[in-house]
Amino acid sequence: MRKKIASLAALSVLALSVFTGCSSTTQTEAKEKKEEHPIIIQGPMPIEAEKFAGKLENVKEEKSGSFVFYKGTLNDYPVIVTKTGKGMENTAAATAVAIEKYDPVAIINQGTSGGHDPELNVFDIVIGERTVNLGSLKTGNMADEEGIEPTAWKPMDLMASEGSAGEDPNAEKIRYYDGDETLLAAAKAVKDTYKKGKVVEGTIGSADVWNNEVDRIQWFHEKYGSSVEEMEGAAAAQIAGAYDVPFLGIRVLSNNKTNGGAYNPDTAAANQEYVFEVVKEYISEMK
Ligand code: 5AD
Repeated sequence: MRKKIASLAALSVLALSVFTGCSSTTQTEAKEKKEEHPIIIQGPMPIEAEKFAGKLENVKEEKSGSFVFYKGTLNDYPVIVTKTGKGMENTAAATAVAIEKYDPVAIINQGTSGGHDPELNVFDIVIGERTVNLGSLKTGNMADEEGIEPTAWKPMDLMASEGSAGEDPNAEKIRYYDGDETLLAAAKAVKDTYKKGKVVEGTIGSADVWNNEVDRIQWFHEKYGSSVEEMEGAAAAQIAGAYDVPFLGIRVLSNNKTNGGAYNPDTAAANQEYVFEVVKEYISEMK
């Protein structure tokens, strides 16, 4: 939607300049438009953000709260890398601050993750066709001494309409945040540039939880269709959605309990290199 508005604005500038015969004004104004709408790349930890920031040109660092914004350019297009910190709260806040401050054209949330799919190995990358919050749950009714029954917990849709769960038929549906089509297309177009593993489309699950129980991981995999888990994507997707900003999650597996894949921190840098290719592709499609 924003892209459409931006291109409509560019078109009207163009029409005006044809009328007035002033093309240098057009170029300046188009450039100004472009500079108003950077692409935001989010990474939770230093190892998940600084590699990408180091690839930008003309970098200036800004801080807001605990969030660090590396403002730079890539092929003359404005790109801002955000070091958000870990978890859903940091990410939601860093996303809202970035949107209010910088009015981005798109947001990519990226970093490491743990596999939920035994077919995926450490260094494989999941492009988030959809992102889902694995932590917004409602438990069953159990009385004193009746214990706890995690597999009976139901999804709770944080975006369902106001009122108690009983009133809204959608309140217990799983809420999936769809990846933006244009960002997805850019990510798919550069799959072959990645040589350290395979790149697949899938579902990214997020919560302020690191699951190491394989049965629990399998339960999420079956119930939510999750390919991987991490601790940020759904928070960024939810806030990007609230502001109608195109969003995509891109996650590399740094570990996979379901097939014995041991944690490897080098995956964080590998993912940033792939996301760098995605951003270049996205920018080239916009020009
Ligand atoms: N479970 C949860 N978070 C994970 N991360 C990497 N692997 C996992 C996993 N198996 C990421 C999170 C968070 C940090 C702890 O690492 O997104 O930023």
